[in-house]
Amino acid sequence: MFWPQQSFESLKTAVLSALNKNASFYDHNIMGLPATYLDPHIFPADADFLSNAPFIRSFIENPNHIGLHTYDKSIPSFHGTQQLELDLLRICAEEIFKAKPNSYDGYVSPGGTECNIQAVWIFREYFKNKFGALQDEMVILFSEDTHYSLYKVCNILGLKYKVLPVDFNERKIDLDILNNQIKTLKNSGSLYFIIVLNMATTMFGSVDDIESISQKLKAQEIQFKIHIDAAFGGFIYPFTNPKSLLNFDNSVVDSISVDGHKMLQAPYGTGIFLIRKGFIDNVLTEEASYVEGLDHTLCGSRSGANVIATWMILNVHGSHGILKRMNELIEKTNFLCDSLTQLGIRFFRNKYMNIVTIRSDDISKEISEKYTLVPEKHEQNQVWWKIVVMEHVTMDLIQRFLKDISIYSTKHSEMNSISI
Ligand SMILES: Cc1ncc(COP(=O)(O)O)c(C=O)c1O
Repeated sequence: MFWPQQSFESLKTAVLSALNKNASFYDHNIMGLPATYLDPHIFPADADFLSNAPFIRSFIENPNHIGLHTYDKSIPSFHGTQQLELDLLRICAEEIFKAKPNSYDGYVSPGGTECNIQAVWIFREYFKNKFGALQDEMVILFSEDTHYSLYKVCNILGLKYKVLPVDFNERKIDLDILNNQIKTLKNSGSLYFIIVLNMATTMFGSVDDIESISQKLKAQEIQFKIHIDAAFGGFIYPFTNPKSLLNFDNSVVDSISVDGHKMLQAPYGTGIFLIRKGFIDNVLTEEASYVEGLDHTLCGSRSGANVIATWMILNVHGSHGILKRMNELIEKTNFLCDSLTQLGIRFFRNKYMNIVTIRSDDISKEISEKYTLVPEKHEQNQVWWKIVVMEHVTMDLIQRFLKDISIYSTKHSEMNSISI
């Protein structure tokens, strides 16, 4: 994995030159598009700082990246900044997720939810178009730790689903149950399977074991497609675990989603959807006849500025810079976990991830609230609290938290020994 670090100045020049290649609402003859620059009362285009703020400049210019640019044609007015999107997709698909050049399609969507919908939508249509699959012959499988967006996906797309249980402590999908589940589904007429695997679940940071899961799927001789939800983990796990198998080098992986607005510190609205070539035409909306190149995406209009923000972040650090940042987070997480172990506090953590999920019996609700930990459920009997070690979670903050819980755990064990 390698892409070079670039100076802010050179990125600024590249963005301004890309904007210059776009047709600008300010000085081009644009009469047919249902769009314009942002409202000048709130977003003045002549503010002094704009010449040094390429993202804000792009934001105000408001390019619309509607359509798919990895395809043969797309709307020419925003051709300049579409090239930056192509470069962003190249970095993600080829450098981070090991795709071969020109072997993928993709786009920058509003977020992880849309990427998950887009993936399952494509595979549903693929099974219909290629095999004549009926709606109730298709089923989606995912673990109980999978993000709630999958329930939206099943509801919107009218597909049935099965939730795979995980081991309480290890957070791993139970392979025997998976096997039996597939047999039962086959016996009741399911022929086509869409499997969503996690490159880091939202609550635990657990990563599904694609090798053993795909072996089980292959052994059952079923038609299946695998989507990787890397919305949270996609900008950390491939860096911290170079042996990751959740990428396009692995022939069972068909599509991947990753959010810039999580680990990359990009603005909201930067979900990146990637899929192997040959599938996306299943969701081509031919009726989008006024859009040059038509439309393959769920959202339609989408922000070119968000693409630029994500592209700039990746390039201002380069691959080595991102690796360094992610390793720093892992070191802070290691320190937190070692200290929790010394205090006898139970937790789950994948060693390549920056999420630590603590048993709620082991820390007080007051401390969890004081440090804004996130509960598994907002209910009385919830059993886990999670910490996500992000950039703003400093060693100082971790140490204050540890001090507070060590006082609580001393008091707690004293109370326990009195009650005994
Ligand atoms: C694993 C995972 N998938 C999907 C999503 C949904 O992402 P978004 O909120 O960007 O739609 C999240 C959000 O936390 C997530 O953690």
